[in-house]
Amino acid sequence: MASDTPFKTKGGQAMDRRDFIKKTCGTCAAISLGTLLSSTLLDSCKTASVGVYKTTATGNLITVPLSSFAAAEFKLVRIQGYGYDIGIIKNQSDYTALLLMCTHAGQALTKTGSGYFCPMHGSRFSETGAVLKGPATDPLQHLKIKKDATNLIVALDPDYFMS
Ligand code: FES
Repeated sequence: MASDTPFKTKGGQAMDRRDFIKKTCGTCAAISLGTLLSSTLLDSCKTASVGVYKTTATGNLITVPLSSFAAAEFKLVRIQGYGYDIGIIKNQSDYTALLLMCTHAGQALTKTGSGYFCPMHGSRFSETGAVLKGPATDPLQHLKIKKDATNLIVALDPDYFMS
């Protein structure tokens, strides 16, 4: 005898209302949980959309034009032949330069929306270099910085030039 239920499986078999609700709610819950988990996990992989200033070093010094901070308070500096990026933060007329090297085991860090992430063991640092999550225990290294009328001059650690 044919069922008059409006709920049918993909194969055309009749399904009662309770089974239909169980199946569809379970599927919706699984999809929602998967979406939530993947967005949380991917957040740690997200590279923030920041301006990258590419330059070369002279000796162990780099020069970054002050004008490059006109539109943003943060600049990621990528130096040819150097193993790490530098993060420079502008705070009114003061500047801070951070070596983006994880203090746990030396991995290069990735900029995220709210700081820096280490892809090797998962340490997180704030935008100013404080440890937010271990295993790293030390804050990021601050580099010496000088300002003249038009440029910032940052002293790099000579140990991290690649040969
Ligand atoms: S090297 Fe960064 S957490 Fe280990």
